[in-house]
Amino acid sequence: MSKMVEIVIFPEVHLGKLSRYLYSHFAEHLGRCIYGGIWVGKDSKIENNQGIRCDTVRALKKLALPALRWPGGCFADSYHWIDGIGSTDQRPRRHNLWWNQPETNQFGTDEFMQLCRMVDSEPYVCLNVGSGTVEEARSWVEYCNSGQPTLLTKQRHSNGHPEPYNVKFWGIGNENWGCGGHMRPEYYADLYRRFASCMRKTAGEGAKLLACGSHPTIPEWDERFLESMKGALHLVDYIALHIYSGARSSDVSFTDEDYYKLIASIEVMDKNLTRAGALAQAYSSYGHPIGVVLDEWGTWYEEATVATGLYQQNTMRDALFAATSFHCFHRHRNLFMTNMAQTINVLQALLLTKGPEMIVTPTYYVYEMFRPHRNGQLLACRVDAPLLKLPQAQEQKAISISATGSEDGNELFLSILNLDLHNDFTGNIRVSGEDKWKIEHVRRLATKDIHAHNSFEEPEKVYPQEVSPAGKREQSVIELPPQSITTMQIKGS
Ligand code: AHR
Repeated sequence: MSKMVEIVIFPEVHLGKLSRYLYSHFAEHLGRCIYGGIWVGKDSKIENNQGIRCDTVRALKKLALPALRWPGGCFADSYHWIDGIGSTDQRPRRHNLWWNQPETNQFGTDEFMQLCRMVDSEPYVCLNVGSGTVEEARSWVEYCNSGQPTLLTKQRHSNGHPEPYNVKFWGIGNENWGCGGHMRPEYYADLYRRFASCMRKTAGEGAKLLACGSHPTIPEWDERFLESMKGALHLVDYIALHIYSGARSSDVSFTDEDYYKLIASIEVMDKNLTRAGALAQAYSSYGHPIGVVLDEWGTWYEEATVATGLYQQNTMRDALFAATSFHCFHRHRNLFMTNMAQTINVLQALLLTKGPEMIVTPTYYVYEMFRPHRNGQLLACRVDAPLLKLPQAQEQKAISISATGSEDGNELFLSILNLDLHNDFTGNIRVSGEDKWKIEHVRRLATKDIHAHNSFEEPEKVYPQEVSPAGKREQSVIELPPQSITTMQIKGS
């Protein structure tokens, strides 16, 4: 008999609305993310729509990722946007500096905007600060967002796009403490002032500017940057952090200890988001709040090197890591957006392709299963579960839960993770208050082996299954197998 855990949701205790952008993503000109994963070209034998592969579009459209960050990453600070517009056969061929591969420029601004439309995502463009000029960045923004009859908007028009794209999110450089120029935060702040002053004017009302934030090894960056921005803090809408996890472990051949270490590493994100969130608040003013974005995150294993185009496999461990991280993100009230790295064939990918074949990864299913959480009202909930034995002495319960309510208050959504590799539990789920709730749609992503993954030979080894809840109206009992993700919709009558 498995141990019973009590799970209670308090639908009347609202903790704030979640930002739907927490479920955003990132696609860089790196390895086979753009070329091969998204872009195959109009003449390809692979089914495509204006050069963009259709299987990828179908899969991403199902997720409708709220925002998609592009073109990098490190690539952004060496990218010159003008190379990627106009007739494709006239576009210059370049060398992709950071990822040591050819850059044909076949996929540029108009193709990216086309992709975003096809998959129902908002574009988020990262500007080149490391090797570009303010004028180059300004003209890119004008090309994308201006409705004025200028030389650049006429060019956009003649490239087939008369209407402005109205890009809302603009990143001012990427990792400017590293590949984006190895700058000091004070120097970056001075550059930021120049870039952002221009962007504010050109990008139009409602555009949001994101400043390069810290990495866990340089936490002091955020404070030094914000301090140097005094007097011009109205130019900073978000401070954007990068935090990767899972180094020094293999993608598929890992130990139980590696798994628990990865789950424990979520605490690094948690602490850094708390620190950055508090700082952002300290530098906010009445009328101009500064928020936090987790601009790049996800697993990065030893197989992902420049030589492999940062390709790695994706197992049930990645799915549990993603789901637990989302539970953590839900608790950070001024966290606005997170972008996992990266969408296809790179790092913790949602999709993997091999020539004409495409498969979805266990991480993909987390995005798909958690969709009802987006925009939800975060609700108080509690679970009585034993602590996991993590390598570092940390308090992480074996069962992690998060609950949200719909806008009209008639629907609840609950996700339950059993993070224990070996012990199963029985969840006794209760909704506090009125006797009007019924569990309806229960889905479970679970495998007996934490190493389980989808491959081109076995593309459906890991996928979510429907489960029937047992029990009465306001109280239901559900099995929570080891290493499993369970979601449920709870409807009010
Ligand atoms: O996502 C891969 C790389 O990781 C990005 O290009 C860079 O920003 C980060 O270091």
